[in-house]
Parts: sequence; structure tokens; C-alpha cells
Amino acid sequence: MKIGIDLLCFHTPSYVMDLRILAEKRGVDPDKFTIGIGQERMAVLPPDQDIVTLAANAALPVVEKAGRDGIELLIFATESGIDQSKAAALFCHKLLNLPATCRCIEVKEACYGGTAALRLAATMVAARPHTKALVLAADVARYDLASPGEPTQGAGAVAMLVSTKPRILALDPETGFHAEDVMDFWRPNYREEALVDGKYSTRMYLTTLIQAWKQYTAASGRGLADHAHYCFHLPFTKIAYKAYSRLCKAEGTAEPPKEELLHLLDMALGYNRQTGNTYAACVYESLSALLDNMPEALDDKRIGLFSYGSGCMAEFFSGVVQRGYRAHLFTDLHRTMLDTRTPVTYRQYEDIFTYGIPKDGADHVFAPYRGGAFRLAGIKAHKRRYEATA
Ligand code: COA
Repeated sequence: MKIGIDLLCFHTPSYVMDLRILAEKRGVDPDKFTIGIGQERMAVLPPDQDIVTLAANAALPVVEKAGRDGIELLIFATESGIDQSKAAALFCHKLLNLPATCRCIEVKEACYGGTAALRLAATMVAARPHTKALVLAADVARYDLASPGEPTQGAGAVAMLVSTKPRILALDPETGFHAEDVMDFWRPNYREEALVDGKYSTRMYLTTLIQAWKQYTAASGRGLADHAHYCFHLPFTKIAYKAYSRLCKAEGTAEPPKEELLHLLDMALGYNRQTGNTYAACVYESLSALLDNMPEALDDKRIGLFSYGSGCMAEFFSGVVQRGYRAHLFTDLHRTMLDTRTPVTYRQYEDIFTYGIPKDGADHVFAPYRGGAFRLAGIKAHKRRYEATA
């Protein structure tokens, strides 16, 4: 029985800042951001959007296309939670008008959360093959102003419908995973901005990649040449090249020439380079970019995927692109969304960054910004109130 991603849709805010503006403000050579870490722009989240609206905006095209019947599980993966108790999934469940016979939960393990949710969803669907699961992964990457992490900030969400008739990617059963208790990136409950030891985190990412890869290759018998392309977790896109280089070293093979390397990796970096880090959504945003933009057809090709969540949890797995997948992508929607974003100045970025969510319980109404089908209309008595924009 096949199990995998039946539909995949990605959403990012309608505002964006070019990192060259940030470089100038911080007195840094712009090449450090665009070449050194491989980032061009960062998504800027307006005050009337949050992880719920990002995820619901990603999911609406999916449920409109596939229908709502049979969705028995809604898992929301995030490390930007808006509530310590209530799952963000429940807000989305209402906005998306999903059936009441649906389990709604939120999961967390840093950027690995999206993959944890996907694997849980696949397990549930395997046990009840006539049902479907909706996986939402949404995050807002925030670091202190003028900190090393600042140019890697971003925001975005993916929605993935998981079923036994996947039209996009059938997951292979073999996988390799690795857990270790480390403090490379974390965000205590009292902080809005994450703390990160970026260099240590990169080292952990690359070390655990090899641990996960070894288990995956032992279980599957596959090697580097068995994957047509790779989608890595992307805190910044340059890391994909570092990761692939490590895999080559682990296999004892030479790195391919530059052209071949670009072909293997670069198409999967296009969206993340334009949005910044989307944490739990990253790998699947990368998959979306690859499927949408690779000029040659990927039908029946195997893709290698690596998910890393600081703290840390790593998993290497793979999937086979399904025949006829192109007819089921949201390519035009993704491209239009990215091409029509409103650029912001440094001042506007800083104003939005410091705006903050009101915490006093009074009746707050948010001015409407550009966005998708849903927005955060206000907060009253500490309760968030969402609305459809049309
Ligand atoms: N032109 C081109 N490249 C340049 C450059 C220039 N003018 N100046 C610097 N660079 C390169 C550096 O050589 C380096 O490349 P390398 O890593 O391949 O050696 C890269 O740009 C980054 O420079 P560095 O001095 O290491 O940057 P930094 O101290 O500002 O830190 C990160 C970079 C990525 C570690 C930092 O942005 C960060 O911590 N980001 C958050 C990461 C994260 O969230 N991780 C957790 C989730 S997995």
C-alpha cells in the first residue's frame, strides 16, 4: 500500500524585505547574506497574520481541491505556538470548515515538527486506509535585531494532505533517525525571539545528518546515486551544499562538478531563498520549489529528504514522485504569491518587528494588511478572533 503526500501547498506573507537593505543597515557586505549564507529576501509577517492564518491560507487550496470528507486527523507542527494549551489546529479546523470527526493536535520539536507530523499522519493513514490526514507546518523565525540570526528570519507554512492514493510523493518505508539532547537553538517560554548558537547548530545538523543517513542506507540499501534530487532542512540555503558535501564524504565519493551539483540541489532552494527560514515548513517548502520549478519531469524519480530540528532530532527519508504529479501542483499560485509581495523598507520592517502582540486583555482590532484568505482580526479578553477576508 502506498502512503504519501497527495497534495502540497505553500504560503508565505505578502510582505518582504530585500537582505541587501538589511546588509546596508548593519554595515555588512551584502555578499555575506546572498552568497555566504545563500539568502536573498526575508518574509515579513504583518500584525494581522500569525501561524494560524499562515497555515489556514496554505491549507485552503488543498481542502478546496480535495474536499473535506474523510479527513480524520489534523496535525499542526510549529515552534511559534500562540497558546500553551489549545492546539493551533483547532483554529484552523474551524476556518477550514473541517468535519467534527477529526482529531486535532499540535506537535513540537523545533524544525523537525513538520516531519514528525508527516510520519504520524502516515502511520494513522496506514491503520485506517480509507481516511486522510492534513498536516500543517507553520512558523515565524524571529531572532534579536542585529544578531547573527537576523538575516535568516522568515515566515511561512505548508499544508500536506496525506493519503493512500498520493498524487505527489509516495513515502518510502525505510528511514533513518537520530535524537540527542543538545542546546544549539531554543526559545524559552518568556521570549519572543529564539536563541541560537549558529555555528554549533550547523555542526549538529551535519553530524546528525550522517547518523540518520547511515541508518537510512543500511535499511534501504540505497546510496547517493539512487536519489535524483535532495531537499534538506534549510535554516539558510547554503547549508544544502554543506550537507551534500558531507554525504559525499560519508560515501567516500568525490563531489560532482559544479554544474551537476547545481542541478542536483539548486532548484529546491528557490523558495526558501526568497522567504527565509520557515522552520517546521522548510523541507516541504523546498520540496514544493523543486516540484514546481524543475524543468524536466520528475515522474518516478526518488527524492532524498533530510529534516533537522534543533535540540535535536534528525531524520533522513525518501519518497518517489508520482506519475502525473504536475497536474496536482499549485505552481501558479506559489509563483504569483512570491512575485506580488510588497517590498518593505528597513523602517517598516523594524516597526512591524517591534509592534508586538497586545497582552493586556483589552479589545484590540488589527488594521487590515495584505494577506491571504484569512486574517487575525483582533484579540479580546485574551482570545484571538480570526476572520475570512472575502
Ligand atoms: N562574501 C561572501 N561570503 C561571505 C562574506 C562575503 N563578504 N562574508 C562572510 N561570508 C561567508 C563566510 O565565509 C561563511 O561561509 P562558510 O560558513 O561557508 O564558511 C558565511 O558567509 C557566514 O559567515 P559567518 O561569519 O559564519 O556568519 P555569522 O557568524 O553571521 O553566522 C549563521 C552565520 C548562519 C551561523 C547565523 O546566521 C545563524 O546563526 N543563523 C541561524 C541559524 C539557525 O537558526 N540554526 C538553527 C536551526 S537549524
